[in-house]
Amino acid sequence: MPFLLDSPEAVAQARQSAAVDFEAFWADVAGHYEWMNPWHTVCDWEFETPRVRWFDGAKLNMTANCLDRHVAAGHGDRNAILWEPNDPADDTVAITYAELHGRVCRFANVLKSRGVGKGDRVALYLPMVPELAVAVLACARIGAVHSVVFAGFSARSLADRIQDAGAVCVITSDGMKRGAKGLALKAVVDEALAECPTITTNLVVRHTGEDVQWNTDRDVWLHEALTAVSGDCPPEPMDSEDLLFILYTSGSTGKPKGVVHTCGGYMVYAGYSFANVFQYQPGDVYWCTADIGWITGHSYIVYGPLLNGATTVMFEGVPTYPSPGRFWEVCEKLKVNQFYTAPTAIRALMACEPRFAKGHDLSALKVIGSVGEPINEEAWQWYHDAIGGGECALVDTWWQTETGGILISGLGAHSPMKPAHAGYPLPGISPVLVDGDGNTLEGEAEGYLCIDRPWPSMIRTTYGDHERCRNVYFSAFKGKYFTGDGARRDADGMFRIIGRVDDVVNVSGHRFGTAEIEDAIDSHPAVAECAVIGYPHPIKGQAVHAYVILKDGALPSTEEGITALRKEIGVQVNTEIGNIARPDRIQFTPGLPKTRSGKIMRRILRKVASGEHDQLGDTSTLLDPTVVDGVIAGAAEFLA
Ligand code: PRX
Repeated sequence: MPFLLDSPEAVAQARQSAAVDFEAFWADVAGHYEWMNPWHTVCDWEFETPRVRWFDGAKLNMTANCLDRHVAAGHGDRNAILWEPNDPADDTVAITYAELHGRVCRFANVLKSRGVGKGDRVALYLPMVPELAVAVLACARIGAVHSVVFAGFSARSLADRIQDAGAVCVITSDGMKRGAKGLALKAVVDEALAECPTITTNLVVRHTGEDVQWNTDRDVWLHEALTAVSGDCPPEPMDSEDLLFILYTSGSTGKPKGVVHTCGGYMVYAGYSFANVFQYQPGDVYWCTADIGWITGHSYIVYGPLLNGATTVMFEGVPTYPSPGRFWEVCEKLKVNQFYTAPTAIRALMACEPRFAKGHDLSALKVIGSVGEPINEEAWQWYHDAIGGGECALVDTWWQTETGGILISGLGAHSPMKPAHAGYPLPGISPVLVDGDGNTLEGEAEGYLCIDRPWPSMIRTTYGDHERCRNVYFSAFKGKYFTGDGARRDADGMFRIIGRVDDVVNVSGHRFGTAEIEDAIDSHPAVAECAVIGYPHPIKGQAVHAYVILKDGALPSTEEGITALRKEIGVQVNTEIGNIARPDRIQFTPGLPKTRSGKIMRRILRKVASGEHDQLGDTSTLLDPTVVDGVIAGAAEFLA
């Protein structure tokens, strides 16, 4: 059923045919799905406006392809989802394709009964429970646009996202469990909804059983609503370019933007990339440890696997609870064949005692994957040897929220592997490296990573602000999509991603704009000005260092006072964004290195935070070069 390239020769052949005629190539891939209507145009595009339309004229429904098709093919009793709860004492819950189909239809009818319909936006703020996947699919079933918000963002962030999308419904749970910690999710939503007048329904999943406040005007228990609807819900016919979902992500400026993905192209690419990167075979058990709150969870927990009729594991917990052996216990218990996680988790587990990894039977593993940030060579080797037993294919998958799916990666065992290299683009993808002037670099080179041709799951717009989409992605290099990443290509044509070249930090694979964190810190009453940068961190990849200038007289005179003020500022970031963005270091400084035109020289701040203050380079353009000495002196306590 899937478009599967099952040998190095087939991969080479696909690469070749995509290079000759990429539209014919993608039409061939798209032919492996069920469409209600055919397309009249494979791809209509230009990168100026930008305008990107795939499979125009076609009609489809994502869930008909994820669910109905497999049930109709007689695979209804195959496991679709294996849910692994936070507490290892609780049993794994298996949901077959037929059951999932039924649950999605019923959930979809609940949404309809609350007046939610095609084109309406629905915000999801849920733990990693099966209802999250069901809710995502229920939206897709009726053509509502889901906007999943990671349940670690603050009420403020949730409210911002609901307002920007103009959502009419929010779906949450009473509470959540993540490792030893709990979080009262409904209370966070209640706080957010005080500022969200567009929301008419708050659908609540009962999960932890904790007490919640209740607003009878808008709050509805899901389990009660489910009993009042039928289980029959035909899939809504969607235009290929109708919105499937919005997912908010951070950039170098302003508030997070809503990346828009549409039905047809996203479906084609999510299914294609999943099948080929992971080389999934019927009967395999596949596990991606991400949260559905991020793009990785959208494409490679929900849509990609289900489009392929795969068994996908959904994990509620964290890697280190109740012990750092949890991932490997689950791999052994469920006989996981494909395992996909982030370098930050790999590094954290690598730092634990070897017994946690060694004691488990991981022999079912065939493909192990990495995503979210550059994987350093040491972590790559450990993952390959200690987890992959030296025999698994290790796929380092490079992509972004905006790309919708994996663009550069090995394809199971059919591609050469090189530590710390993502490798070759998937057939059909055409990355290019350019220099600062936009000149295309050939052969072995290092430069800005761009893509010069469209692919089906690329970003269509930033919700409500197309100009922003043009500006951020299509204006830096004419005629190209700019990724924001720098990369190197070796003599064999393999890519190594260096990291972001803009003001975006990647903390444990989570993406934040430095400006966003600065805004949060600036909102503390004692703060006059600040600058935030990322510095290398052995586990998180990058961590946040905040340089803060306090208002006159605000610097506490005691150590305790300073500690308390740092904590307050951390709480401020927690309130404005979420705990995941909290700075690791807060350095109070009398000044910041600025150019004569008032621009902060972040290059200097990055060097200082990395302990490289002997390599500051040219500081002659600074308004006051002596400021640097103060910055270096203040950083000393963190670098000791
Ligand atoms: O810098 C790249 C890094 O993560 C960024 C995208 O972040 P986000 O949209 O949150 O999506 C993360 C999951 C796809 C990229 O611009 N990144 C992602 N994967 C890799 C990576 N950097 C290096 N190697 C990767 N495999």
